[in-house]
Amino acid sequence: MNPQALNLPKIEVPEHPQWPAMSDPEKQALKARIRQKLEEQDAVLVAHYYTDAELQALAEESGGCVADSLEMARFGAAQSAQTLVVCGVRFMGETSKILNPEKRVIMPDLGATCSLDEGCPADQFTAFCDAHPDHTVVVYANTSAEVKARSDWVVTSGIALPIVNHLAEAGKKILWGPDRHLGSYVQRLTGAEMLMWPGSCVVHEEFKAVALERIRRLHPDAAVLVHPESPENVIEQADVVGSTTALIKAVSEMENREFIVATDGGIFYKMQQMAPDKVLIEAPTAGEGATCVSCAHCPWMGMNALQNLEQVLDSGENEIHIDEAVRIRAVIPIQRMLDFAAQQGIGIKDKGNA
Ligand code: 13P
Ligand code: SF4
Repeated sequence: MNPQALNLPKIEVPEHPQWPAMSDPEKQALKARIRQKLEEQDAVLVAHYYTDAELQALAEESGGCVADSLEMARFGAAQSAQTLVVCGVRFMGETSKILNPEKRVIMPDLGATCSLDEGCPADQFTAFCDAHPDHTVVVYANTSAEVKARSDWVVTSGIALPIVNHLAEAGKKILWGPDRHLGSYVQRLTGAEMLMWPGSCVVHEEFKAVALERIRRLHPDAAVLVHPESPENVIEQADVVGSTTALIKAVSEMENREFIVATDGGIFYKMQQMAPDKVLIEAPTAGEGATCVSCAHCPWMGMNALQNLEQVLDSGENEIHIDEAVRIRAVIPIQRMLDFAAQQGIGIKDKGNA
């Protein structure tokens, strides 16, 4: 079965949401109300680095976490709080629920999906897997609970390389989905035999190699940081390729003063906080005469804001529910990843890898 021949759904990219402007006192008052509601409801915020800077700040100030998708998955389970409020995209909320079925998991907007998740329908992916029963199925975390339930391993960008390497060394043939760019990058580095689902991230796919070359000539001393969901000709120009956590770490640890960053602009909040004296430059998303769809800002991540966070705490709506039969299957490959991470010390701060 050739996945290129699949009739995959066309991804509808929403407009990047614009939230009404608030004065500083209004914002402070709203944040104070949210903090109080979190306390009253025994709830904690779990936010991704691509969300709005105000949300990230509130998550930190209120004892929640701001992290990459691997750490977000781990964080919820380590909390005594009964409610996890996941600010990110839907697969992140689903992963939290899969790992913490006894907790209430809510999100500001359940419509916050991901082009990788949408481009990998469970029925078509299952048929692809069924056609290749001799392959170990490795799926990126940016997938639905149903797709995870059909997999042997779940990986995030922070752990994909060591897991695929481990499988390749054991002589496994891999069926990989859904991000073809991350998959090809991992394949180039590990030499693993991999069958690839043809998905991509609409945000990272827009980074343009020729325009990046031009910016690099203007900033010859800048280090280039690239998330591995980007196309190969962009990755080729990188000084560092890695997960959101790895890119943030690079900004604070490398000696360069300037950085050209090819990932969602939401990450600049944490980078600037970690290294206030560094200069951050957005990698170009459109070539000459072209227009960008996302302009380096994930429209689904943009669906999270202070305003709808308060609304969801008031209404109790937008709870994540997962069919128990699906959850029981999906938790196995996710837990396998977390156990592997723990064994290898990957992303564990006190082992120096975070
Ligand atoms: P990270 O796991 O690197 O945070 O990436 C998640 C994601 O959706 C990137 O687009
Ligand atoms: Fe999905 Fe791309 Fe948005 Fe990440 S940036 S959530 S991969 S659409």
